[in-house]
Amino acid sequence: MSHTPASTTAPTTVPTTVPTTTPAVPAAVPAGPEAAETEASATYAVARERSRVLDELIDTHAAREPARFRMLTGDRPTGPLHIGHYLASLRNRVRLQDKGAETFVVIADYQVVTDRDAVGAIGDNVHGLVVDYLAAGIDPARTTIFTHSAVPALNQLMLPFLSLVTDAELRRNPTVKDELALSGGRPLSGLLLTYPVHQAADILFCHSRVVPVGRDQLPHLELTRAIARRFNQRYAGGQGVFAEPEALLGEVPLLLGTDGTKMAKSRGNVVNLRDTADETAARIRAAVTDGERRITFEPERRPAVANLLTIAGLFLDESPAVLAERVGDGGARALKELVTEAVNESLADHRRRRADLARDPAYVTAVLHEGNARAAAVADRTLATVRAVMGMSY
Ligand code: TRP
Repeated sequence: MSHTPASTTAPTTVPTTVPTTTPAVPAAVPAGPEAAETEASATYAVARERSRVLDELIDTHAAREPARFRMLTGDRPTGPLHIGHYLASLRNRVRLQDKGAETFVVIADYQVVTDRDAVGAIGDNVHGLVVDYLAAGIDPARTTIFTHSAVPALNQLMLPFLSLVTDAELRRNPTVKDELALSGGRPLSGLLLTYPVHQAADILFCHSRVVPVGRDQLPHLELTRAIARRFNQRYAGGQGVFAEPEALLGEVPLLLGTDGTKMAKSRGNVVNLRDTADETAARIRAAVTDGERRITFEPERRPAVANLLTIAGLFLDESPAVLAERVGDGGARALKELVTEAVNESLADHRRRRADLARDPAYVTAVLHEGNARAAAVADRTLATVRAVMGMSY
């Protein structure tokens, strides 16, 4: 575990990862109440297209230019990871790591208290995340796993970064607004308001260029890009101290939980990676379907059935429509058996490795300590550059 990421000092000339000419947004954007939504989906379509190009570039170039595709992503340690995390993000992280991109994974522990009053079982949750990362195939020799509370220089970057954003910008961040709405009438804390800036520090401290995220995190990435740009302009005389990172949107469609609503651990409708095969079977057996006997793949009309087919399809790498044909008149019962088998067989190795790691907690802790030390060294260098360009080296 002696790997140190290649030079993380700031590039002076910033190569563009993805061509900045983006596909044209339709000119005639309606001005009615749907305007905002239409605009959001047009922006999303652009982001998807850029992600697709980026993904191709990673295929062809990451192995030769690992620093140009340095990747950072992360999770809040609020509980165990479920199959949605596995399908939408864990598998993808391993794929990118294996393509040769330098990778960082932040366990965003300070973000836990953005929308709740207590940290909960944070030590166990952090440990559990590291176990799931390792079990999924994240290799600690190539990927730096760290908690941001253990990297002081990263947190200090938040101060100059906060000077680059306005309160109006923070207040209109749609993700912050949604999280505030979901936090049950809690007043907006300073940390919830400013956590997108903290997230920018997570991304920029290691000069990461590729940020695999879900759609909900796109506003944070836009803000990160603005912070990088403004820092270069205002404090660095136009030098490219920070490059603007790109979002890498996953291919996985939004998955529903076993009750047919959004998959979320807070709703108790998930299959966790650490669940046993029997717990998985019980959970899937209890999943809602509908009254129609014959199984068909019709996402609009039959969302719950389509969701189960989608999950099985993702695990089996098959099209959900083909699986629907195969189940056909077998009905909900056969469908659930198919899903259970797909999940349990696909996760068998993961769960075995998980159990092995659970017997060696000292190793898991050592991985985290090593990652924290590596991240701290990178952050120290970046902070030194920031202080130097701001004339703060005394
Ligand atoms: N906010 C992210 C989430 O809730 C987690 C996160 C923290 C993150 N820092 C990050 C994701 C930096 C990407 C990049 O899922």
